[in-house]
Parts: sequence; structure tokens; C-alpha cells
Amino acid sequence: MIVLITGAAGFIGAFLTKRLLETTNDQIVGVDNLNDYYDVSLKEERLKMLSSFKNFVFVKGDISDKQFIDNLFKEYKFDVVINLAAQAGVRYSIDHPDAYIQSNIIGFYNILEACRYNLVKHLVYASSSSVYGGNTKVPFSTDDKVDNPVSLYAATKKSDELLAHAYSKLYNIPTTGLRFFTVYGPMGRPDMAYFSFANKLVKGETIEIFNYGNCKRDFTYVDDIVEGIVRVMQKPPVKKDGEDGLPIPPYKIYNIGNNKPENLLDFVNILSEELFRANVLPKDFDIKKHMKLVAMQKGDVPITYADTSDLERDFGYKPSTSLREGLRRFAEWYKTFYK
Ligand SMILES: NC(=O)c1ccc[n+]([C@@H]2O[C@H](COP(=O)([O-])OP(=O)(O)OC[C@H]3O[C@@H](n4cnc5c(N)ncnc54)[C@H](O)[C@@H]3O)[C@@H](O)[C@H]2O)c1
Repeated sequence: MIVLITGAAGFIGAFLTKRLLETTNDQIVGVDNLNDYYDVSLKEERLKMLSSFKNFVFVKGDISDKQFIDNLFKEYKFDVVINLAAQAGVRYSIDHPDAYIQSNIIGFYNILEACRYNLVKHLVYASSSSVYGGNTKVPFSTDDKVDNPVSLYAATKKSDELLAHAYSKLYNIPTTGLRFFTVYGPMGRPDMAYFSFANKLVKGETIEIFNYGNCKRDFTYVDDIVEGIVRVMQKPPVKKDGEDGLPIPPYKIYNIGNNKPENLLDFVNILSEELFRANVLPKDFDIKKHMKLVAMQKGDVPITYADTSDLERDFGYKPSTSLREGLRRFAEWYKTFYK
């Protein structure tokens, strides 16, 4: 197979690429614009990890550039496309809305158009738990109504699902959207809490715990997300006709989350214990002196909690890495990378 992975220098994209290169003979074409939303050296480091694989080609480019995408799809006959490139982050969308429309709407539209005119067997794309907005019913199910986004980021991800549905219906393109729940791990994203907390604590600074600690997150280890994508990409939604003789859209949505929300304060305790264990923080470091409880931020939600029963039913799989194990691997990587 020839597989396109957009966002290949990103956190999830790089680990997915590595996994496919290690376990299949697929040719992987990775695309990324290497933007500086966070430390570019991390993206370069991830690409270095992939550079020794002979079945990997990296092409620097922007998915919102239609000409670039059209040329790429002419050059390679992609069997499967995995769209992970996006402007991520909830808080950044308040001051930088353009980046979200450009990458998540125009970029995704270009990918859909390219799939329309080329015989792509399966388009898998990243959605997000943020589409559930302030949903109070837990766990979050893909059957829940998700019409109340509380950030522009969430609105663009929900829009991607709608665009994918229209293209599946109109052109019979098999598409699967994956709603990821707070993904963490080594070589992760410095804008996310676990990573920025580690950076601040190392410098002796104080970390802010939002909603006075009354937040719960379904933290999902990156390898578990990768395992989910690998299973899903091999099984496109089946094309079939309805009673009216017209195609039923080959369109699916799944949650991939740990299905075990953790309280933010417990999460900070485990993180600090693992940073002590890895000798990133000195043993006499008093975590309580470096924590400040603050109000909820715009765009944030009090809880995320994935109902993974569809994923279990269709793929016999659900994430299972414990927060302690995952944060241990993060802390060990952090030590080697930054110290
Ligand atoms: N990490 C999470 O917790 C999480 C949760 C839910 C959904 N997601 C989604 O999963 C996907 C991957 O997330 P990640 O955590 O690996 O983020 P990431 O920022 O590390 O990776 C995204 C990559 O896409 C690239 N990119 C952005 N815009 C682009 C464009 N227009 N053209 C080409 N490349 C572009 C970036 O340079 C980056 O390397 C994203 O779509 C994100 O919205 C992530």
C-alpha cells in the first residue's frame, strides 16, 4: 500500500509513521509544513527518528495549498490517506483563529477533493473529543448530539466530520473520523499540560491548575492512539446501497480514549512523582508550593470521558496504558532529551 500521512512530523503522526514502517511494507509519504506553533526542533527530532527507514519519503508542504496537494496526489497513487495535519490546541484558537480555518477547514477540504478525484480506498482523519463541548452526559458517546462547540478548534473539527459525511455520501468515499481524547507521551506537544507543567516545574516556576482542580480528563497514551489508527485504517466502512438504490455513505466516527477519566490533581501528583523518579526534579522539591488553583479558562470543558464501546465492537480494541506507566515513559524521555 501507499499511505499518505499528513502531520507526519507531529506528535501522533510521527509515532504512527514509525509504527507502520516497523511493522509493514507500506510505502509512507509524510507531509508536514513544520510550522512553529511549538518548538520546531521537536518536529525535526521526530523526523530524524524516521529518516533511516527506506520506505519513508518526507515532503514539506502545506495541506491548505491546493496545487501542492493536487500535485502530490498525481505523483503518488495513495491507497489510504491519514489526515492528522491540523492547527491543534483550544486556547490558541482565541487569538489565532486564521490558522484554524486555514489548516482545519481549507486544508481538510483540499484533502477531500483530492480523495474525490483519485481512487483512495480509505480516508482516516483526526477529529477530537472537544466536539463534545460542554456535554454533561458521560461517558461521551458518538451517538450524543455534538452541536455545541465551546471553541473555534472544536467547531473546525466538527465541521471536518460534516464535510467528510457529505463527501462520503456524494462520492462514495469511505471515511473514518477518530475523536482522540487528550493524547500524551514522549516527544509530545509542549503546549499540552503534562509537558508545559514539566517545563515550568523544572525551572522552579508555579503551575496553574484550572477550574480549581475540578477537571477530569481521559488521558490517552500515544501508542494506544496509534494502535487504534492502525486497526481502523485497515478496515474502511463498507460501501453499500440503501433501499432507494442510492449509496449509504461509507462514513464512521469512533472515540479513541482511555475510558478512565483522571482528576487533574491526581494527574499532577502522578506526574510529579514520575519526574522525581526520573531525577528530573530534585527529591526535596515541594510540589504543593508550586501549584496555584485558578478559574476555568475560556474554551475549556470540565470533563472528557470516552465511550469506546463502538471501537471495541468493531475492532476488538480499547486503550489500556495506565497514566502512571505513560507518564513514566514521558518522564524518562524528558530526562534524556532535556537534561
Ligand atoms: N494530541 C491530542 O491530545 C489530540 C487530541 C484530539 C485531537 N488531536 C488531533 O490529532 C491530530 C494530530 O495531533 P498532534 O497532537 O500530533 O498535533 P501536532 O501539532 O504535534 O501535529 C500536527 C502536525 O501538523 C502540521 N501541520 C499543521 N498545519 C498544517 C498544514 N496546514 N499543512 C501541513 N502540515 C500542517 C504541524 O506542523 C504538526 O507537525 C491533529 O489533527 C489534532 O487536532 C490531537
